[in-house]
Amino acid sequence: MEIINWKELLYPYEQAVEELLLKFKSLDRECRHLGIYSPVDSVTGRLKRPASILDKAGRKQIPPEKIEEEIEDIAGIRILCQFVEDIQKVVDMVRSRTDMTILEERDYITNTKPSGYRSYHIIIKYPLSTALGPKEILAEIQIRTNAMNFWATAEHSLRYKYSGNIPEELQERLTNCAEAAFRLDREMATIREEITNAQRLNEIRNSMTANILDNIQKLHFVAKLEDMDSINKEFVEVWNSQDMEKLRTFNEKLNVLTEVYRV
Ligand code: GTP
Ligand code: MG
Repeated sequence: MEIINWKELLYPYEQAVEELLLKFKSLDRECRHLGIYSPVDSVTGRLKRPASILDKAGRKQIPPEKIEEEIEDIAGIRILCQFVEDIQKVVDMVRSRTDMTILEERDYITNTKPSGYRSYHIIIKYPLSTALGPKEILAEIQIRTNAMNFWATAEHSLRYKYSGNIPEELQERLTNCAEAAFRLDREMATIREEITNAQRLNEIRNSMTANILDNIQKLHFVAKLEDMDSINKEFVEVWNSQDMEKLRTFNEKLNVLTEVYRV
């Protein structure tokens, strides 16, 4: 049997995981920056371990020279969403990208696996520029809700612990948990709008507060001491009132004041 040079084999995949992580994280950051809803809650990535690659190759009778071609999840990215509805939005984002090509989509949400597993998988072809020249590798993107992930992670650990033979009684409870996770996703969907509105309000409040503090700092250098005194007092008052309208008005007032002093 041919000896696998793991360092050489895995390096491009490691690079791909890093690049993809950066790309999906910055997508999320960009949405927040633009003040539009981000369907991405969090992103993680991992490189499949050699032991696990060998295990899968053995299971699927993949010869060493075919590993790169036939094991699609050596590089894996996981995107977690708050709501089921967000998954489709992430899928659309992936579909519209020009820096990767979709090879396959597996919808285990519409088609829940017998185990109870739910998730949306996309297999991509991803072009890399390596020190040895251009190279295309395969990667797997898993998109799922936090509830789906909670269940999948637990199930994976149990499956690993019992080498795939989970005792029946435990299996039954696991199935119940899968149903509970499904119901949680469904219930959350019904209050989705309330939740996202509240989150948006929080974000606006935070960015206005940051702007106010920024302006106060600038004014310290130019405004009169007694003016600063009343500004600070007013800020505490507005802040304690928890009134968004008051915060907005005060923010505007400071914006104008900062402009005036600039002249
Ligand atoms: P492997 O399951 O990895 O051998 O690949 P496959 O060719 O069967 O592809 P599939 O789409 O079924 O699974 C790809 C990945 O999805 C797996 O590596 C797991 O991370 C995850 N997955 C699939 N099914 C399950 C499941 O029943 N439970 C859990 N916890 N994860 C699963
Ligand atoms: Mg499988």
